[in-house]
Amino acid sequence: MRCLVTGGAGFIGSHTVDALLERGHHVRILDNLSKPVHLKGKPDYLKDDAEFMLGDVRNKADWEKALDGVDTIFHFAAYQDYLPDFSTFFHINAVGTALMYEVAVEKKLDIQKIVVASSQAVYGEGKYRCARCNRIKYPGIRPQEQLARQDWEIKCDECNSTLRPMWTNENRVNPQNQYAISKYTQEITSINLGKRYDIPTSCLRYSIVQGPRQSIYNAYSGACRIFSLSMFFDQAPPVYEDGAQQRDFVNVHDVVAANLTVMESSKADYKVFNVGGGKAYTVAEFARIVSGVFGKQIEPDINGMYRFGDTRNIFSDISHLRELGWRPHFSPKESVEEYVSWLRSMDGIENVLEEAQQKMRKLDVVRDSKQSHDTSGAKYESVSAGSRHRLKIEATH
Ligand SMILES: NC(=O)c1ccc[n+]([C@@H]2O[C@H](COP(=O)([O-])OP(=O)(O)OC[C@H]3O[C@@H](n4cnc5c(N)ncnc54)[C@H](O)[C@@H]3O)[C@@H](O)[C@H]2O)c1
Repeated sequence: MRCLVTGGAGFIGSHTVDALLERGHHVRILDNLSKPVHLKGKPDYLKDDAEFMLGDVRNKADWEKALDGVDTIFHFAAYQDYLPDFSTFFHINAVGTALMYEVAVEKKLDIQKIVVASSQAVYGEGKYRCARCNRIKYPGIRPQEQLARQDWEIKCDECNSTLRPMWTNENRVNPQNQYAISKYTQEITSINLGKRYDIPTSCLRYSIVQGPRQSIYNAYSGACRIFSLSMFFDQAPPVYEDGAQQRDFVNVHDVVAANLTVMESSKADYKVFNVGGGKAYTVAEFARIVSGVFGKQIEPDINGMYRFGDTRNIFSDISHLRELGWRPHFSPKESVEEYVSWLRSMDGIENVLEEAQQKMRKLDVVRDSKQSHDTSGAKYESVSAGSRHRLKIEATH
């Protein structure tokens, strides 16, 4: 096969490139080496066997060159940081994807398959159940006032009791931020244009992906990066909310296997699949996994910080993709071990963590409940004032 991997210099893209090369395919990478992901230019893990094309998915001429002679596309290039330049998400993620189909259709290219990276983020809070009302719920984001008084749980819109999170399958989306909306736009563009023009297309909604080569420079860092970097420098990992948020984590090698599974199966055509770890962990549990890998007894720093717009719980039901024979093989502990050994091989990472945190605070993405005000101007008291809770971390894509 002659494959194009957009975003092939990045985390998931580069691992997919390696797997394709190992299978003897010809691989071309289209990547603009965007910052902050590639703060130090072209990464040295890129194999010479892959043809590298510096270009931008927002540029039609770049697509024309990149798609020349290609029969299979893995479209991973995306804008991901959780920053308030809303339009960038749509230019890169949505318009970039539309251009891919535009060029393929205009030039009547013989594309056999397109695999598009989507995200668990399209579910927002995902699926919940209210035991008291006996109803399934798809809640919106928690109000600022609720978070400011450190009332973290999702409440029923009818009876106000705490909702129970459930495994979220592919049936219903509820995107709630610029990234999620742009990824869902990308998804429906891909599935519908693919169907209309007979270009077999599959979209994969990855859960939180973990493993080596995940850029340490993104401001909106994942739990693995934040915890690992903190522990690396003997700092208490900053944990948001109370650490009881639930997530599922999937190893990058399992993600690569999922990419290849849908590429090879016509049963996956024009369908969307969750790609997750199959097990839910609280953020506190995940922090313990990271500290276990480092063998350090450092308590997480739970000090009333939270990220406005973060989901409380989300974990994906992966039974749909299991039907194609795929299943996750790696545990979060194995992912962290591999990530940490990669981290140890890097230089000049001392200020990365603090710089990312400062940027998030400056942009008002990370907020401090102890400094929040209600609408009348009265200051909320921090529930945890004087007594630090154990644990709390973040979410991700
Ligand atoms: N990592 C996760 O946990 C996760 C979770 C869900 C979904 N995803 C999705 O998976 C895909 C890959 O994510 P990743 O973690 O490997 O990200 P990454 O940032 O490591 O890689 C993305 C690559 O895309 C390139 N890129 C960005 N903008 C570009 C543009 N305009 N033109 C050309 N190239 C551009 C970047 O330079 C980078 O090399 C993305 O579509 C992302 O939305 C990732």
